[in-house]
Amino acid sequence: MQRRMQDRLPERGAAPPQAPSAQPLAQDLLRLITCGSVDDGKSTLIGRLLWEAQQVPEDQLQALRADSRRYGTQGDDIDYALLVDGLAAEREQGITIDVAYRYFSSASRRFIVADTPGHEQYTRNMVTAASTADAALLLVDARAGLQRQTRRHAYVASLLGVRHVLLAVNKMDLVDFREEVFRGIERAFADFARDLGFASLTAVPLSALRGDNLSQRSAHTPWYQGPTLRGWLDGVPARAPAAAEEPAAFPVQWVNRPDAGFRGLSGSVARGVLRVGDELRVTASGERARVAEILGFDGALPQAEAGRAVTLRLDREIDASRGDMLSHAADPLQGADQFEAVLVWMHADAGLVGRSYEIKLATQTAAASITSIGHRVNVDTLAPEPTHQLGMNDIAVCKLAATRALAFTPYAQSRELGAFILIDRFSHATVAAGMIRHALRRATNVHRQALSITPAQRERMNGHAAQVLWFTGLSGAGKSTLANALEVALHARGMRTYLLDGDNLRHGLNRDLGFTEADRVENIRRVAEVARLMADAGLVVLSAFISPYARDRAMAREIIGAERFVEVYVDTPLEVCEARDVKGLYRKARSGLIPNMTGVQSPYEAPEQPDLRISGSQGSPQAAVQQLLQALCERGALPAGDSH
Ligand code: ADX
Repeated sequence: MQRRMQDRLPERGAAPPQAPSAQPLAQDLLRLITCGSVDDGKSTLIGRLLWEAQQVPEDQLQALRADSRRYGTQGDDIDYALLVDGLAAEREQGITIDVAYRYFSSASRRFIVADTPGHEQYTRNMVTAASTADAALLLVDARAGLQRQTRRHAYVASLLGVRHVLLAVNKMDLVDFREEVFRGIERAFADFARDLGFASLTAVPLSALRGDNLSQRSAHTPWYQGPTLRGWLDGVPARAPAAAEEPAAFPVQWVNRPDAGFRGLSGSVARGVLRVGDELRVTASGERARVAEILGFDGALPQAEAGRAVTLRLDREIDASRGDMLSHAADPLQGADQFEAVLVWMHADAGLVGRSYEIKLATQTAAASITSIGHRVNVDTLAPEPTHQLGMNDIAVCKLAATRALAFTPYAQSRELGAFILIDRFSHATVAAGMIRHALRRATNVHRQALSITPAQRERMNGHAAQVLWFTGLSGAGKSTLANALEVALHARGMRTYLLDGDNLRHGLNRDLGFTEADRVENIRRVAEVARLMADAGLVVLSAFISPYARDRAMAREIIGAERFVEVYVDTPLEVCEARDVKGLYRKARSGLIPNMTGVQSPYEAPEQPDLRISGSQGSPQAAVQQLLQALCERGALPAGDSH
């Protein structure tokens, strides 16, 4: 029976958009990204390209003529920008949001144009669009010359592997087509882009509005000998198709089981070429199987090359599911849990060392954190700058660590297997895009050592379970007092305990840390790691830290293990803590002597669903200690036979 794939196509959304005629793997397809700052005339240029390619239906033209007249364009002239901006309302605001993909063709090839807005806050769109583009068209206004945005876009394009750049020097009519204006911009750009590694750089003097050097050489620029814009578009090389000798990789997107008799693995080939009969290996488990059948959109295929969406049937059942990566058994893809990458930070919340994010690489996910920030790149000068945290639009070289090994290839070798995104685990916002440079040698040279004595054996010897009671609350809420009273009670019961206290640890292990958000993240990360080791040693650990950020408490829970982590919220109103002001810190903060005091200038994110909430404004801690003992008893963490 000939199996077909129509009824079991891989999920949509993950793959970049494809031309309407589908499977655009031929060389005649050019993926182009256009970028420029606001008002460089980008919409006019794209509109004109579409118009000249005659891809605009007549009824849309009628509507455009009417709209153009409303905007004061003379007679039957068309305001080409309206073709792109579409809605008049959008045009009035002067913004076009998100990436718009447009398709057109010339006599010799087809184009997919990703149009991204120039505003700085839309770097994310630019990154998305550039990640699949072969070439970039950067627009500059001849009157304004190179802008910070132009440099940023050129740099981002180079990071994302765009090979060819066209600098479209637009609005030449407004500078009387003067050669020196054009040459000045051309030179400045060549200087800037010298080290960006583009395969080609071309500058064209244009007037998108009037059509100079668009498809016809302009009589106004007799001094210009280079290609027209259309000429460049037709001639610029597209990305070469997948080379057969490249190691193949197939990220599993989903397991396809339409009926009991069929089990296939669906996804898009990320790299190289897969053939029927090839022996594949699951990178995580090492299991192997051969490709028995490759099903494409129209039925069985002898092979599938990078970019093609297929379902693979293997010659035997192996344990593989979404997030697994298959590669040739003879040339398996490497995995690592630590690597160096270039991060483009795309969120208003700062990117901090030590904070836990979700990483998504092809179909693989894990928790990951930035372990160090090497430097940030100044996009105007490309000079490295030191920084402790990442802000919106920062581009930085960082080291990252994931909680498990991920299979990847450096971005320079594979865009599909070398790119990832970081996701905030609370808001689910995409906060960064990353391009992997290389695995860290320490990731491959450091292995876990197996120990003979297990945590369970240590717990058994202690006669009670290990637990971590994580006290959180404002400074002065009563965390330390309460933890201390509880430790006394536990100790009296013969239990092995230890109290980790913020003020104490900041005298030793965490002596180098202050109270910025970044330092607090690192403080909590270290404390959580220490608490984990102590719990592995079989102790009941009491930790008393403000731990003001919900994300970091979630990280602590993860590091320590949810099954032995108890979040105890010592809920004391700020007014009460401030009235107590045992250490005089609130007074100092109010008079400006302390800059980042929690509750004053620095936030406290109260737990929404703590495992235990204790009011810290009552007098004696004894009632609270009873409450805590009860909770430990319920969790089976008190010694056998000992009720509270
Ligand atoms: S945390 O925010 O990183 O969890 P931690 O619990 O270690 O803080 O330390 C808090 C203690 O440091 C407070 O109890 C207080 O004594 C002292 N401290 C000094 N400066 C500050 C500040 N700016 N904000 C909060 N606590 C401070």
